[in-house]
Amino acid sequence: MLNDISSVLISKEEIEKIVSELADQINRDYVGKKLLLVGLLKGCIQFMSDLSRKITLPCEIDFMVASSYGSSTETSGVVKVSKDLSIDIEGYDVLIVEDVVDSGVTLDYIINMIKDRKPASLKLCTLLDKPIRRKKQVHVDYTGYVLPDEFVVGYGLDYAEKYRNLPFIGILKPEIYS
Ligand code: IMP
Ligand code: MG
Repeated sequence: MLNDISSVLISKEEIEKIVSELADQINRDYVGKKLLLVGLLKGCIQFMSDLSRKITLPCEIDFMVASSYGSSTETSGVVKVSKDLSIDIEGYDVLIVEDVVDSGVTLDYIINMIKDRKPASLKLCTLLDKPIRRKKQVHVDYTGYVLPDEFVVGYGLDYAEKYRNLPFIGILKPEIYS
């Protein structure tokens, strides 16, 4: 698996520092709030577990599974929610926890869906952001790292369902895609 990686973009140590800084901001901003972390599976798995352990405030955790159809590296624009939230979120201060905002198509859909359920507030925290790829404008409240137009894997992010278990974020060798 490591043989498939051409370079490490964000090391394990750098990720830890980024996640700590995000958690510090969240810990400051959500004092006295009814915080609910909503993770978008599967990409959020590693980020959610590390971030939530660094959040020192009381909070609840829930998950959704949403995917936008398309090839493995490009979105088609059609979003499907295959697992919805398990609680009624009315009155909660919802913080969406996402691995990467790319076209913004998935998040735009999810944000509108959650807004309709009358949360007390709704914000978005993403580990990675690729603003250059946007098709739908989404407001990101907490950003870990801004990426160039590059497809990355590891730390929850996959290519064809693989590499999610890597502890760092890296770039695949071009021959893997062919
Ligand atoms: P969006 O709807 O285009 O913003 O898609 C976001 C989703 O596409 C993410 O949650 C990922 O599942 C996937 N994605 C986008 N960019 C990458 C990448 O560089 N590596 C792996 N998955 C990605
Ligand atoms: Mg995702």
